[in-house]
Amino acid sequence: MQIRKAVFPVGGLGTRFLPATKALPKEMLPIVDKPLIQYAVEEARAAGIEEFIFVTGRGKTAIEDHFDHSYELEDLLSSRDKDQALAQIRDSVPPAGQVAYTRQQEPLGLGHAVWCARNLIGDEPFAVLLADDLILGEDPCLRQMVEAAGETGGNVVAVMDVPREHTGRYGVLDVGADDGRLAEVRGLVEKPDPAEAPSTLSVIGRYILVPEVFDYLSQMERGAGGEIQLTDAMAKLIGDHPFYGLRFTGTRFDCGDKLGFLKATVAFGLARDDLQEGLGAFLEDLVAGR
Ligand code: G1P
Repeated sequence: MQIRKAVFPVGGLGTRFLPATKALPKEMLPIVDKPLIQYAVEEARAAGIEEFIFVTGRGKTAIEDHFDHSYELEDLLSSRDKDQALAQIRDSVPPAGQVAYTRQQEPLGLGHAVWCARNLIGDEPFAVLLADDLILGEDPCLRQMVEAAGETGGNVVAVMDVPREHTGRYGVLDVGADDGRLAEVRGLVEKPDPAEAPSTLSVIGRYILVPEVFDYLSQMERGAGGEIQLTDAMAKLIGDHPFYGLRFTGTRFDCGDKLGFLKATVAFGLARDDLQEGLGAFLEDLVAGR
């Protein structure tokens, strides 16, 4: 199955990271030296995505600038023979004409953000990536999902088990047939109370969806938190289209949360050849109270 287009909902306010996000989009917060949104775009590219659709909002123009050429900077780096830095910033710009920006004019929820991309997606299956969910691993999560969707057809969401007390933060699966890798989705509930959650298998911010999801998003029904929820529209696809949760390989970090963000910084730092030794030694000393 070929998935050519991906939606990046980046309209959120990032209130959990104030004051850092007062003038800076939360998706531009860096893990080590790369903004969160760039990790998501690189993951999408590694999965074969060719069109990158950003659903932005007010105050998010830094994202557009980030994925564009900066001639002055490139010129400067070039004149100073900073070849590696130059290659890095050039590589991060998607090919011309393959990036689109549309605005979510009101903060009505994730489902509404995805719906804002409907005309740019058209009538083909597509991916959604939430940059807050950052995954460290050899094999990019979305690539694994594209492969899985090739086996199952229909919809595939990335899933992982979470502690039961955290189900209220996620879309949670009611699980049908389950082979340990792919779990058939029999139902989906957005942010259920732990006592009512049908399982602890929860949706992480990676989706492959059939375009029919837009039919349901168009109904603009309000769900959990009074928002138009992607989960609710996805739930309506069950039965009409194959629907599976993929337990991906890799470690997921919730970078929408301060502790998760710090953990990601440490883990991605330790995964870097140029930082591993210094950061590792510092952490050992810190833990030992030296
Ligand atoms: C969103 C989705 C939720 C999903 C989560 C993954 O919630 O609504 O179903 O499990 O992302 O991170 P949010 O984190 O935006 O509240």
